[in-house]
Amino acid sequence: MNDTTAIGILTGGGDCPGLNAVIRAVVKAGHMRGWKTLGFRNGFEGLLTPSRHVWLDYRDMGHLLTQGGTILGTTNRGRFASKTGLGEAQRIPREILDEAKANFHALGLSALVCVGGDGSLTIAQQLFEHGVPVIGVPKTIDNDLDATTITFGFDSAVCCATDALDRLHTTAESHNRVMVLEVMGRHAGWIAVSAGISGGGDIILIPEIPFSYDKICAKIAERESVGRKFTLVVAAEGARLRDGALVVADAGAKDREVRLGGIGSVVAREIEKLTEKETRVCVLGHLQRGGGPTSFDRLLCTRFGARAVDLIARGQFGFMVALRPPDTVAVPITEAIGRLRRVPADGDLVRAARALGISFGD
Ligand code: F6P
Repeated sequence: MNDTTAIGILTGGGDCPGLNAVIRAVVKAGHMRGWKTLGFRNGFEGLLTPSRHVWLDYRDMGHLLTQGGTILGTTNRGRFASKTGLGEAQRIPREILDEAKANFHALGLSALVCVGGDGSLTIAQQLFEHGVPVIGVPKTIDNDLDATTITFGFDSAVCCATDALDRLHTTAESHNRVMVLEVMGRHAGWIAVSAGISGGGDIILIPEIPFSYDKICAKIAERESVGRKFTLVVAAEGARLRDGALVVADAGAKDREVRLGGIGSVVAREIEKLTEKETRVCVLGHLQRGGGPTSFDRLLCTRFGARAVDLIARGQFGFMVALRPPDTVAVPITEAIGRLRRVPADGDLVRAARALGISFGD
């Protein structure tokens, strides 16, 4: 594409370490080609209130590599909300798409970089089908997006959860307690499994493998029998009992996903009742999403941003950048959305954990 002079970028859905690093990479790589970059504030909502856009100068990108959050703001609510649960995409009303497209073109932009997870990329695809030249960049701490080996933000979240487990380890051991750490992961247990293994967890509960209290208690008893008087349990927020329901913090409004939360407390209470061992719970919550990106994520975000600009230059719209080691590649956005990537119950990660005696409560 030779006539590109200005491109747009927005960050959608829940925030995540590395969003600013992607913005920086897009602005700088675009500048190298002589392009200007305009940021839409507050996710896709910014397309409907274009007066709230901001021109991003490459000279102002200095501290963004390490800065958490997103300077553009984001939202997982609003008029563009397109998901109410796993796989249930809704069509965005035509008048909303028309308005967004008209505003986009009125600004004289040649491309729109949409940084987001499954919900945001579902919106991006609908915009693309409506005639907006879109490029996707895969974001989510949950790592549950298909078509890329890893999403950015995941490594930072795993580091945060691993650090929490290291800290819980010493206090659990000092008091001979069971400690339950609740981590994020609505539909997929990538954070729980990865941090659980890295942080020396004993029991890992994930959405992909339903658990039973019998098996959890058996593992605790097994540890007691060999003199290990403490146990670390990691529970993904979407973990559930066989035949059990999700533990929900807020059923929410009709047009948005329910807010999960509370499985850690439920599990801790039951363990204490059944084993009579002192049990405590720690909910890591949004600490996993806050703060700056790890060096792995900084690198990944920079590669994704640079690759996104490359795709614009090639006119390869409707595509998402992805990591297929050792390279970044372009995949149709349609290959990434609508089918979440979950932890294979018999995959390498789970097998490695089981080989070390880690229980999945099954
Ligand atoms: O980004 C996905 C996620 O981290 C989920 O694991 C979690 O359920 C959700 O975000 C919470 O989002 P919020 O609190 O912003 O609604």
